[in-house]
Amino acid sequence: MTIEHTKIAFIGGGNMAQAILTGLLAAKFSPENLLVCAPSNTTREKLTEKFQVNVSDNNASAANFAEVIFLAVKPNMIATVADELSLALQSNGDDKLIISLAAGVTTEQLQGYVRGNSSVIAAMPNLPSAVRQGLTGLVAAKDCSVDDIKLADDILRCVGKTIWLDDENKMPALVATAGSSPAYFFLFLEAMIESGVQLGLTHQQAETAAVQSGLGALTMASRSELSVIELKEQVTSPNGTTQQALDSFASSQLRAVVNDAMQAAARKAANY
Ligand SMILES: NC(=O)c1ccc[n+]([C@@H]2O[C@H](COP(=O)([O-])OP(=O)(O)OC[C@H]3O[C@@H](n4cnc5c(N)ncnc54)[C@H](OP(=O)(O)O)[C@@H]3O)[C@@H](O)[C@H]2O)c1
Repeated sequence: MTIEHTKIAFIGGGNMAQAILTGLLAAKFSPENLLVCAPSNTTREKLTEKFQVNVSDNNASAANFAEVIFLAVKPNMIATVADELSLALQSNGDDKLIISLAAGVTTEQLQGYVRGNSSVIAAMPNLPSAVRQGLTGLVAAKDCSVDDIKLADDILRCVGKTIWLDDENKMPALVATAGSSPAYFFLFLEAMIESGVQLGLTHQQAETAAVQSGLGALTMASRSELSVIELKEQVTSPNGTTQQALDSFASSQLRAVVNDAMQAAARKAANY
């Protein structure tokens, strides 16, 4: 059986579940093999209309439906939904692969919540999974089998790249560098667009210019053999316009600003 035929359930149907669903459907997973459990009628109707996937208001239905179950609820709901799932898994005597997407929830905590013999993996995906350019950081619980690790990796590589961490203490660093970081890029674009408009471009011109330049720069960074430092130097002629902008960033302590922000995100991930 190919990976696209794996039956997958999501408990929670919000932003992250929808991003991964979008990516999986683009990777030719079939809606009939996907189930999303969410309590609100509005969310379920939206999911049916947008993705034509199966939906349910009963988290226990994931236990019967899927081989792999993603926990895509807020971190403070993980214990509750894992408990519901465990009860259902115990009654049907089945073991599943359970992948939590919740920031700050460790494999040890997951193993405590998910009783029985199901395998658990803690994952930190990000929103670009929707365009199959995601980055998912992963940690497997100690007793996870090689097959389960491969299964999780195969699924998540359908929506981007994966990084397996050998030390779970590094997960907050991955939250700060990947899980949260698409928002930093969006914020930077937002600020650039505002400045482009202040300098006289229309909003549309500023947006096209900023987004296309970002796309070009990031594509180069991902494909080039040059380091990002060398690429930056290629744009910067001595005493030219770019140098003026970079000097201004330096005098505003941009690196310290970025470091403070990422430390704050990592601290939050470590202290949920
Ligand atoms: N957003 C990101 O970029 C991102 C990145 C990495 C990791 N994550 C992680 O992904 C998880 C989900 O984040 P999100 O941004 O997708 O949150 P979200 O948009 O608020 O979605 C949360 C979902 O959980 C559902 N839910 C709430 N209580 C539930 C219950 N008892 N049983 C089943 N479903 C329930 C909600 O259903 P209703 O809609 O029906 O209320 C909603 O669909 C979080 O743990 C977060 O740390 C998010």
